[in-house]
Amino acid sequence: MAVVAIVGGHCGDEANGKIVDHVAEKATIVARFSGGDNAGHTVINPYGEFRLHLVPSGIFNAQVTCIIGNGVAINPTVLLQEIADLQSHGVSTSRLFISDRAHLIMPYHTLLDALEEETRSKDALGTTHRGIGPVFADKIARLGIRTGDLLDNDVFRGRLSSALELKNTILTKVYGAPPLSLEEIYDQYCRFGEQLAPFIRETSSMIRAAAAKGEFVLLEGAQGALLDPDFGTYPYVTSSSPLAGAGCIGAGLGPREIDRVVGVFKAYNTRVGAGPMPTELKDETGDLIRTKAHEYGATTSRPRRCGWFDAVAGRFSVQINGLSDIALTHLDIYDGFRSVKICTAYEFNGEILTSFPADVATLEQCRPIYEELEGWQGSISGTRRFEKLPAGARKYVSRLEELLACPISLVSVGPGREQVIAAEALNRQASTVDS
Ligand code: IMP
Repeated sequence: MAVVAIVGGHCGDEANGKIVDHVAEKATIVARFSGGDNAGHTVINPYGEFRLHLVPSGIFNAQVTCIIGNGVAINPTVLLQEIADLQSHGVSTSRLFISDRAHLIMPYHTLLDALEEETRSKDALGTTHRGIGPVFADKIARLGIRTGDLLDNDVFRGRLSSALELKNTILTKVYGAPPLSLEEIYDQYCRFGEQLAPFIRETSSMIRAAAAKGEFVLLEGAQGALLDPDFGTYPYVTSSSPLAGAGCIGAGLGPREIDRVVGVFKAYNTRVGAGPMPTELKDETGDLIRTKAHEYGATTSRPRRCGWFDAVAGRFSVQINGLSDIALTHLDIYDGFRSVKICTAYEFNGEILTSFPADVATLEQCRPIYEELEGWQGSISGTRRFEKLPAGARKYVSRLEELLACPISLVSVGPGREQVIAAEALNRQASTVDS
């Protein structure tokens, strides 16, 4: 057994939730370690179809303790709604815990996110308007309020009044917006505190204890590598790190504790919001992928930009995450394609680039260089063994492995929990999750 991080390989929405739900059966802990309710993890299993924004995707397994780690920003309204929704579907939340160090998204965070985007006008980042930038900015500026603060009304009131004084100055003087009421927020969040108190506790010691006992601990990432504030397409990024390294800090583990890192990649690429995407297809092929895969944001319902698989970005993601292996999802979307393309390098100012550039100005001018592979006909959704896949699909998987220099240990061929071809069936070298 081991500590395994499962992280998004490209720009988010790679179906981390489905992969976590699939492997959580053998886990004792599943912990989210970054992001907030900007994430929308779709899980389809015998309980129904769910879009989880904050609760870890292991919640459907009776033996799994689910932890919302210190690295996550929590909007209590969203979390309480999600808990109620799960309970109404017969899913127990008695094993859900929230780190007392996790920061709270306050009403001024969501408001400022929208106002900042409006001010950026044509340069808007296309955020999810969930208050993510402002809450993580406050965390670093030491102005944040944490879930643990909700457990003591006096402490909470003190922290809220000093933060709100500054926020109201910004709201009124910079944006000409009306100020927010201290009493209203205080009352609302005290009620949240009462409802959330049974879930709030020190969680990092729980994770470390399970890891020390050799139990199977899953760290569930959100968003994807190219949205990382350091290594992503800055400034078109999110505000917490989606990389595997953040799994340590966002859950409370040391760097030597993570045994395996699984990167989740779609068979093609998508991106929501602004920012460079060299392989974007603004044509009928892009529309076909979007329609077949229903590529609309799970959080915002925005249509996702779709394109061919970018192996330059993919290789970079393998490196900065230190991936052990890859879970490839949505391969079935290519069913019926006569041919499929993979971007193997970029052309920039007459030069061939094989590594991912740091600045978006360069990336915006990169032209993808494609390799074209034969596609396949018929549906692969019912296939559970690698050798039963059509030759085109097998070649596609093998070629991605070569280009990314990383083994593919799991292929997802449909949205359901069981629609996977897993390590043993793939006959790959990658260690299985319970090794
Ligand atoms: P924010 O995280 O809401 O601040 O948004 C910053 C950028 O990250 C925007 O381009 C969003 O569309 C993108 N983003 C944030 N969360 C996700 C996600 O879960 N999937 C895909 N894109 C996301």
